[in-house]
Amino acid sequence: MTRAMLVPRMSEHEQRFELLADLGAMIAGEVELDDLLGTFADRVSRALGADRTTLWLIDGATGEIRSRVANLPELPELRVPPGHGVVGHVARTGELVNIRDAHADPRWSEQIAAKIGYDTRSMLTVPIVRREQIRGVLQVLNKRDGAFTARDEEFIRVLAEQIGRALDYTTLRGDDAQRGMSLRGRFNHVIGTSPAMAAVYEMIVRAAQTDATVLLHGETGTGKGLLARAIHVNSARREAPFVHVDCTTLPAALVESELFGHERGAYTGADARVLGKVEAANGGTLFLDELGELPLPLQGKLLRFVQERTFERIGGRETLTADVRIVAATNRDLAAMANAGQFRSDLYFRLRVVEIEIPPLRERGAADIADLAAHFVDQFARRYRKGPLRLGDDVLPALGEYAWPGNVRELENTLERAVVLSQGPTIGIKDLALEPRRTTGVVAIPTAAAAEADGIHLPPGLPLEEAERRYAKAMLERLDGNQSAAARALGISRNKLARLLKGE
Ligand SMILES: Nc1ncnc2c1ncn2[C@@H]1O[C@H](COP(=O)(O)OP(=O)(O)OP(=O)(O)O)[C@@H](O)[C@H]1O
Ligand SMILES: [Mg+2]
Repeated sequence: MTRAMLVPRMSEHEQRFELLADLGAMIAGEVELDDLLGTFADRVSRALGADRTTLWLIDGATGEIRSRVANLPELPELRVPPGHGVVGHVARTGELVNIRDAHADPRWSEQIAAKIGYDTRSMLTVPIVRREQIRGVLQVLNKRDGAFTARDEEFIRVLAEQIGRALDYTTLRGDDAQRGMSLRGRFNHVIGTSPAMAAVYEMIVRAAQTDATVLLHGETGTGKGLLARAIHVNSARREAPFVHVDCTTLPAALVESELFGHERGAYTGADARVLGKVEAANGGTLFLDELGELPLPLQGKLLRFVQERTFERIGGRETLTADVRIVAATNRDLAAMANAGQFRSDLYFRLRVVEIEIPPLRERGAADIADLAAHFVDQFARRYRKGPLRLGDDVLPALGEYAWPGNVRELENTLERAVVLSQGPTIGIKDLALEPRRTTGVVAIPTAAAAEADGIHLPPGLPLEEAERRYAKAMLERLDGNQSAAARALGISRNKLARLLKGE
């Protein structure tokens, strides 16, 4: 019996048919193109027996051609000037180009090849045309068995036609495609093209290709959660679970059970076996969020798991293993904590195999802030059914000057509030309600005295506990939900703040 019979595999022909059928269904159903694009490049490559597929879209304003999806490694968005290279040629002329030996072709650009970092031999490139306009380019590289055939040309033409049609049904057009890195999955638009973020994307993409443990470090609201997920969805584990463990919100006594699970009867009330998150993440990614808040005694248990990938459920004798990639995130300075004996240094060293520093928003520049602002305005305008909204002329400069202590989350909250409050089609500076005090470029954490001056008012006669809770809540609101800053301002840990807010 041949291997092919044991493991039934779709033929190239079947894969081609299915891909077209999916695109057709998607167009009829107005499904988000992004859902399909998540696996698109891989599927096109397989259907054509090729190594790599890239979908490029043309920016209507500048004529620049930008990569939208590609096989892994998914590079940060590539940009090709009009007319440049084979992609530029196809975008300009609308010709289908089938090249057997890329290096010998005069249109081939060494510069683009270097950016893609991929050695190309054969390539098939076709325009995506819609309503007589060239909207993008579909490019397939390296036919596995020689060169692309006339049948491949025919197939890719039909495919490009379908994609052109699909573009009509989505917001994903060349001229208004969201800026920044395109990631797999619809919740994974990471916006921002500043050099600071480009460096982050490069690390993320490289780390995603391996099983290495990654430590994300950055201020609150910089996108650590989003980027942790980006690592997962860009890795070979993307079909397996991504399991989030928040070390802040868990009461210390429950963290161990949450992580490793427990056996029936392990303690009073444990009337069934419960699997831990480590087991739930098997095959996938375990995201340890706010790692700096993990109680010391548990750090030892985690260390063992990080080193050996073995653990026991509470009350269990069996030693179990789980195959997980670990991504951890923190806004705390773990090195300083380790020096102060608040964090195990052996655990810190094990986790920082790849350490990625996420820059605060104020270091990303005005263009990133503008792109993010446009993204959030669109998103909230849709959510609150506000119709198309624009930002007033004085808004962007104000956003650019503001210090954003709560980073992207604060920007998101600010614009959500502005969208809700706005009247008419333009968001004005008043709708933003930015505090001028904080536009100095310095992060000002208010002191208790400042809070008093600003007036956090509590009715007299409250029980102390309730007064504490309300005071903490008011401080949190003043700091736009920035829990770390609020905890710092209150002189307590984030853990304690979380419990205080829950009234525990
Ligand atoms: N580059 C980005 N593009 C688009 N949205 C972003 C970006 N960065 C962050 N966000 C959004 O901002 C919000 C805050 O991001 P996230 O929760 O990932 O931050 P965080 O660093 O984990 O914060 P914390 O330390 O407070 O947990 C989320 O809604 C996220 O989707
Ligand atoms: Mg987070």
